[in-house]
Amino acid sequence: MNKNTILIIGANGQLGTVLGNELQELYGKENVIASDISPKPNFNGIFELLDATDYDAIENVVLKYSVTQIYHLAAILSANGEKHPLRTWDLNMTMMLNVFEVARLNNIEKVFFPSSIAVFGDAVDRENTLQESYLNPETVYGISKASGENWAQYYFKKYDLDIRSLRYPGVIGYQSLPGGGTTDYAVEIYHSAVKDEDFTCFLKDDTVLPMIFMDDAIRATIELMNAPKEKIKIRTSYNIASMSFSPKEITSAIKEECPNFKVDYKPDFRQEIADGWPKLIDDTAAREDWNWNPKYDLKSMTIEMLSKLKEKYKASCTDI
Ligand code: SER
Repeated sequence: MNKNTILIIGANGQLGTVLGNELQELYGKENVIASDISPKPNFNGIFELLDATDYDAIENVVLKYSVTQIYHLAAILSANGEKHPLRTWDLNMTMMLNVFEVARLNNIEKVFFPSSIAVFGDAVDRENTLQESYLNPETVYGISKASGENWAQYYFKKYDLDIRSLRYPGVIGYQSLPGGGTTDYAVEIYHSAVKDEDFTCFLKDDTVLPMIFMDDAIRATIELMNAPKEKIKIRTSYNIASMSFSPKEITSAIKEECPNFKVDYKPDFRQEIADGWPKLIDDTAAREDWNWNPKYDLKSMTIEMLSKLKEKYKASCTDI
């Protein structure tokens, strides 16, 4: 088997933090190069400061370590993107095209490019959003991901560059915090519960969105990347689903463990973004093509999140 050397771009982010550790476990610390635009304090492994808007900088790292795979996770997310639409478009597209071009010109074997449920808009059936739904994103982040999906397919068809992609729902994990997304509340709410703080939710109590537990999201990513090439029939991006819930439902699940937990609701500009997104995703293609199967539901995720965050904060909502 060929040796895999993996470059993660955006290794300090919500997914990159956890994926970095998992890839180190799988491939060995010496074969994973974590990179980000800012330093990663106390990281136990190889780290490179890297600005992905700089083509030469990416190529230099690829050549320095003889990289064979790139996980490109850097992007401005949905909520932050709306504050600076043109800058978001420019950054997201420049970084992505740099990665695809470096990969093409340096014989990179595989690239992972994350897409999102943000590619969907009001053209879809929000109760059951199919893989092949028409994409009419309503945020600049969604527009950049929908375009990115088409670029990924273009590079695959034109240059046989093996780019693989998932449309992530909101990702919820205890290991890292999200930044600038519309689904971030679903991580923050657990931190507040364990710290015994009241929580103010920026979405309305009945706003249902698709979500996934970090362990499942990481496993999906690695299973997709390790699936035989001929199994990857979709070269834009795969829908993946796990669970869907509203703020009211996650609050009830937390209250099972933390009965005194209090939540109030102050919807802000993110409500409009959430209202444009699907509630439920159909992921039949991922299940059929590479055997995707989520393990966590809201209850099992909540138990895991609360127990891990109790360890982290050395606190417990039940101590009160
Ligand atoms: N979690 C992301 C966001 O909220 C969706 O991809 O922007």
